[in-house]
Amino acid sequence: MKKLCFLILLACASLANAQQHALFKDADAKMGEKLIAENQCNECHTRRVGGDGSSIYNPKGRINTAGALRGMVEYCNTELNLGFFPEDTNAVAAVLNKQHYKFR
Ligand code: HEC
Repeated sequence: MKKLCFLILLACASLANAQQHALFKDADAKMGEKLIAENQCNECHTRRVGGDGSSIYNPKGRINTAGALRGMVEYCNTELNLGFFPEDTNAVAAVLNKQHYKFR
């Protein structure tokens, strides 16, 4: 019985991972969410587009691949002087992908 539960858990975990793009398979989503909150990404986007700011994320616009998304986060990091490490950039891009862009 224990073994069965374990197998089901494993299957669920790999399904959940399958939702995320390969670029982001090692990303730390908790860290990404924290960085998005700390750096007030949504506050600034809201000033631009209103609502909760999320309509600035446009999967059909010029950011149309997972790589471009990560590149954009890296660009913002540089422009805004956020001091992200590469794994921070990856974590933030992973969260945006999961919640908004959904690139596979
Ligand atoms: C000082 C204001 C400001 C802050 C802070 C900010 N952004 Fe932005 N961001 C913008 C503006 C303005 C645009 C739209 C640029 C355009 O359309 O040319 C944008 C666009 C983007 C886009 C591209 C959206 C798309 O699909 O075209 C991404 C991704 C993004 N921001 C991520 C972030 C992340 C992640 C953070 C926090 C770490 C962040 N931004 C913080 C102002 C900001």
